[in-house]
Amino acid sequence: MSQALFDVARRVGLEAADFVRRSRPEGRVDVAATKSSDTDVVTEIDQACERLIRERILAARPDDGFVGEEGDDLAGSSGVDWVVDPIDGTVNFVHGIPAYAVSIAARRDGVVVAGHVVNIASGEEHGAVRGEGAWRHDGDERRPLVATQGVPPARGLVATGFHYVPEIRAKQAAAMGAFLPQVADIRRTGSAALNLCALAEGHYDAYFEQGLHVWDHAAAGLVAVESGLVVTGLGGVPDERMVMAAHPAVAEEYFDLVRSCGF
Ligand code: IPD
Ligand code: CA
Ligand code: CA
Repeated sequence: MSQALFDVARRVGLEAADFVRRSRPEGRVDVAATKSSDTDVVTEIDQACERLIRERILAARPDDGFVGEEGDDLAGSSGVDWVVDPIDGTVNFVHGIPAYAVSIAARRDGVVVAGHVVNIASGEEHGAVRGEGAWRHDGDERRPLVATQGVPPARGLVATGFHYVPEIRAKQAAAMGAFLPQVADIRRTGSAALNLCALAEGHYDAYFEQGLHVWDHAAAGLVAVESGLVVTGLGGVPDERMVMAAHPAVAEEYFDLVRSCGF
């Protein structure tokens, strides 16, 4: 059942990625509107991509609900709803930096059970089904993702991101002053979904970010969990206040450090 939901997510995700790739003009992409701040941008292609995803999913599963970043929520009657970010990494998309993704998750009774993330520029795909594992797709092949050994903070490469609201960024900058000397380095690549998938691949040692919405981390969070990582928040579950993820052997060290630095 969850595998069938994954198959829908993957089919629609790949079509959506293809649509965005073909729609992107040369150079910078025009911004259609701003959201939480002047730097939180959306393009007409984000909006059109979400409409395409919504149409395709509801055509296949008309009784399901839908929560997308760019449109109105739709309540369903089946117990399944879809959590969709049509382009995660819109700033990268606007600037032509090849790190932006379509992210589609399916929840049953509020629990994420399937997730698919595809890097639109590179075509790299990650997926997961709850209880079945996480993997990276190479065409028709899929390679299971298994979290490698934990690396402690002093040697750790940590992915993160910063809030769109300037006052919160100022606080984050201060906290980062305490954090940076205690880790090997940080990366801010501009897509929460791709960050979590890269953590599951073993490229990073930990990830944390404040201010995310559920569509940013629903699919990739399941990829991380199913690869064997811990994904949490300040109150035990990831939420808008905090999403943190790391290997279980070192997770508490990273999470304590994030908290103690004042994030
Ligand atoms: C954003 C990206 C970014 C993160 C922001 C998100 P968007 O999503 O994931 O990496 O730092 O918090 O909002 O706006 O490009 O869909
Ligand atoms: Ca996003
Ligand atoms: Ca988005």
